[in-house]
Amino acid sequence: MKALEIKNLHKSFTSNFLIKQYHILKGINITVEEGEIYGFLGPNGAGKTTTMKCVLGLITPDSGEISIFGQPTRNAESRRKVGFLPEQPYFYDYLTAEELLMFTGMLFSLPKTEIQEKTRKLIKLVGLADRKDIKLKKYSKGLIQRVGLAQALIHEPDFLILDEPFSGLDPIGRKELRDIILSLKDSGKTIFFSSHILQDMEMMVDRVGIILNGRIKKQGRLSDLISHSVRYYEIVFTGIDEQTLTGHQVKYVQRDKDYIIKLETNDDANKTVEWITRNKGNILAVTPIKMTLEDIFLEEINQ
Ligand SMILES: Nc1ncnc2c1ncn2[C@@H]1O[C@H](COP(=O)(O)OP(=O)(O)OP(=O)(O)O)[C@@H](O)[C@H]1O
Ligand SMILES: [Mg+2]
Repeated sequence: MKALEIKNLHKSFTSNFLIKQYHILKGINITVEEGEIYGFLGPNGAGKTTTMKCVLGLITPDSGEISIFGQPTRNAESRRKVGFLPEQPYFYDYLTAEELLMFTGMLFSLPKTEIQEKTRKLIKLVGLADRKDIKLKKYSKGLIQRVGLAQALIHEPDFLILDEPFSGLDPIGRKELRDIILSLKDSGKTIFFSSHILQDMEMMVDRVGIILNGRIKKQGRLSDLISHSVRYYEIVFTGIDEQTLTGHQVKYVQRDKDYIIKLETNDDANKTVEWITRNKGNILAVTPIKMTLEDIFLEEINQ
């Protein structure tokens, strides 16, 4: 089943007293399968937040169709299945995490005992159990992000939309958030999140869509997009003097006491390894360098 389907979505904004029109989304098509993590990747201003707002019904598209678990988003019921973490969550400073979650639960008209039970579980899930009584104004960016995630989960949505959840987090915060998102996937939820942080995507997404200037430039399973073909081989070695190296007429770079040679084919790499060994060099590493999501992203941007 498709958790989200966006077909030919267009959105324009008008400004200067309706004189000027900016065409922001130019026919977006996105499919997110149930149970997967979908990474929505694109530079600033590409249209990520605008797309998400259309899905959430916060803004009205010019044209196009959006459905969540097969139901059109015009139907309010379909949106009850969605949890949302905005780009810059802002909460009332003087509440504690526990109070905020209780309050959100009440907005969804859940019974009090159920709210208490869910609040307890969610606070544990996002790792805030020992800080649940501290006022939110004392929370760091990473902690606010976790409270925001807990809040997005209170009505047990099957589909989560997270707008730049990793922005502003340090490496530890990123790792922790990644683990939480992966555990949500394990519990059967579908996750659609935007980011420019390619490394975070590579470590967790099933599929990615690259948006540039209001158009989806590439979309697919991560494993298909990141071709497993090797871009080049890198050989790191020591123990050969520079004169011999220069005489061999291969391009090399020096890093500390080591030398590095890049070769395009497996055959050339093998020959070079043989040559280094013959000349009594010491091979430290032979690494096939593969295409990364970053390479694909930059390739698309530069086209
Ligand atoms: N309400 C609005 N009125 C006019 N223009 C808008 C409005 N909202 C967004 N835009 C414009 O639409 C474009 C896309 O914005 P959007 O926020 O969707 O980008 P984004 O991909 O989320 O970028 P970022 O990575 O910076 O969050 C931008 O040029 C922005 O200025
Ligand atoms: Mg945005």
